[in-house]
Amino acid sequence: MSFLSDTLSRVKPSPTIAVTTKAQELRAAGRDVIGLGAGEPDFDTPENIREAGKRAIDEGKTRYTAPDGIIELKQAICDKLKRDNGLNYSPKQVSVGTGGKQILYNALMATLNPGDEVIIPAPYWVSYPDMVLLAGGEPVTVEAGIETDFKMTAAQLEAAITPKTKWLIFNSPSNPTGAAYSWDELKALTDVLMRHPQVWVMTDDMYEHLVFDDFMFCTPAEVEPGLYDRTLTCNGVSKAYAMTGWRIGYAAGPETLIAAMRKIQSQSTSNPCSVSQWAAVEALNGTQEFIAANNATFVRRRNMVVDMLNAAPGISCPKPEGAFYVYPSIKDCIGKTTPAGTMVPDDETFATALLEETGVAVVFGAAFGVSPNFRVSYATSDDALKEACTRIQQFCQGLK
Ligand SMILES: Cc1ncc(COP(=O)(O)O)c(C=O)c1O
Repeated sequence: MSFLSDTLSRVKPSPTIAVTTKAQELRAAGRDVIGLGAGEPDFDTPENIREAGKRAIDEGKTRYTAPDGIIELKQAICDKLKRDNGLNYSPKQVSVGTGGKQILYNALMATLNPGDEVIIPAPYWVSYPDMVLLAGGEPVTVEAGIETDFKMTAAQLEAAITPKTKWLIFNSPSNPTGAAYSWDELKALTDVLMRHPQVWVMTDDMYEHLVFDDFMFCTPAEVEPGLYDRTLTCNGVSKAYAMTGWRIGYAAGPETLIAAMRKIQSQSTSNPCSVSQWAAVEALNGTQEFIAANNATFVRRRNMVVDMLNAAPGISCPKPEGAFYVYPSIKDCIGKTTPAGTMVPDDETFATALLEETGVAVVFGAAFGVSPNFRVSYATSDDALKEACTRIQQFCQGLK
């Protein structure tokens, strides 16, 4: 009998981390590798936020805090939710955790019983199904392919709901596709949820501020106030504020759920880093100006990457509304043979061959639940992106 738990055997290690590791190994071996796998901005944390972190250290704000966050940060989160999303929350309805990841995990751990179903539109962020499994629930994936711009339709949602459905996990803009739901598209989904009072919605708004071309972000409790009492609005400072390493995420929702999440966190990690919490207060309360500047960079890169990938034979790449990812289809590459002689039956083989033969690291689509595709993160320099896309074009030209 294995020493390790049965629960562990239900989950896979994160494939995005596996790609980054493989790319690092090749680089260490002297290969010229361009990594398009990482899910984090290549910008530094803005100076005002860094200074707030340094100040917190110098002022001795280095002790335990309340397990789910300091009141100053909870208030800043309430102010943000009012300002940006028109949502009214009090600090008692807010939980702060060690990254968005812990927040989502706490919520699932606090609510799932064996057999409870969680609807996850695919392509999905790799951690959702595994977190549901770790918490003892059943992920129910709904494939939203390229034909609906990677967005789940109301009919698909309706068909996936059963009496056992507990949550819908909703993520817009999406990792891995960058697709974002308009108000009308989201309203069609919330209308379905209004007919099924047992279903709660966990909305992962992590990429809220990374939307382009005048796209207007919206979130479920804003679009349908009738869902307020069964919505957990999750967000964090990692992506918009280039603070991935600081590890601060948060959620707002019904007080009983927030208290349950606090209980989980107080018996596992306790408070998120005190210094990071003070930096996050500055992120939310301070200037937001750099977001527009960063987004201008992201739009430029997105447009270049989409154009260059669409010029590669066999690749079809939609132009998404947000985040810093594109999710091209490689349907017309499947069944072909690479320049080095590998037959390509699926997207995992494509991505492995691309890395080995050209040194470009992308994450294969099967990891996100929709194939044959791959994910490109364009949160890297223009020069690296140009070179990577040129190599992808040459690789595809060489497929026979
Ligand atoms: C959709 C989505 N949600 C949540 C997270 C987790 O964010 P954090 O780094 O704050 O844990 C990520 C990070 O990649 C993400 O892409």
